Amino acid sequence: MTPIKRRQRVTTGIPGLDSMLGGGLLEGSAVLVSGAPGVGKTTLGLQYLVAGAAQDQPGLLVTFEEFPATLVRDAKSLGWDVRALEAEGKLRLLFTSPEVFLKSLQSPDSPLSQTLRAMAPQRAVLDSIAHFHRLTSDPVELRHIYNTLVNGLKREGITSLLLDEAARLLGPQPQYPGSLPFLVDAILLMRYVEVDSTMERAIAILKMRGSTHDKEIRRFSIGKGGIQVGEPFSGQEGILSGSPHRVA
Ligand SMILES: Nc1ncnc2c1ncn2[C@@H]1O[C@H](COP(=O)(O)OP(=O)(O)O)[C@@H](O)[C@H]1O
Ligand SMILES: [Mg+2]
Repeated sequence: MTPIKRRQRVTTGIPGLDSMLGGGLLEGSAVLVSGAPGVGKTTLGLQYLVAGAAQDQPGLLVTFEEFPATLVRDAKSLGWDVRALEAEGKLRLLFTSPEVFLKSLQSPDSPLSQTLRAMAPQRAVLDSIAHFHRLTSDPVELRHIYNTLVNGLKREGITSLLLDEAARLLGPQPQYPGSLPFLVDAILLMRYVEVDSTMERAIAILKMRGSTHDKEIRRFSIGKGGIQVGEPFSGQEGILSGSPHRVA
């Protein structure tokens, strides 16, 4: 009898989130992380890469909006020395444009492709994928772009987080163009929630292909050491609407 090969789990660096995911992300999967500005997506991405570096899994942060110096400074305030990890070859910040990054995935001989191959990242974070939405208004072309991205990362066996800027701060989000939710293996939502007149942060797993996962919506906080996932919101309904109400 051939043993069933179980897919490896990849730690996010956040124990509470790993438990929600049934042990971690599935190796080689592409995960969409959706959240409003400032909710903690880049923090999650950095934490994920720092956790990888600690396990000798090199990671790549592709940023289209924040200068590496800003990221390094933000990471420092959370307790992570990005420059040191870069010097050890365990982490790399790449500041580029969506066009250049896309081309490098399409042409294996490009200088960027060669550099990436030499680094052989096992983890990647794209910050943010919203920059690809803006490349075209044609949904068919956009779907093709997403396919190129997701398949390019999977071909290299990279477990990736695709960060996405949710258009609205609170409440339900507009529909995605280009069917991105169908192409990814898992979707994480990070949301601001108003509970009893205070702002809290919530995290939930919307889908996860090939695994069971936590259906609860949990609180999280950001501080030194990054994101910490706490208790589920209990006795509340409509959390993802941004303004929940108590269940009688
Ligand atoms: N050292 C820190 N201590 C506490 N909170 C922090 C720290 N650094 C950043 N934050 C919080 O993290 C948030 C920024 O998160 P970020 O990951 O950049 O958001 P996003 O990428 O979703 O726009 C800020 O709103 C800030 O409140
Ligand atoms: Mg960000």
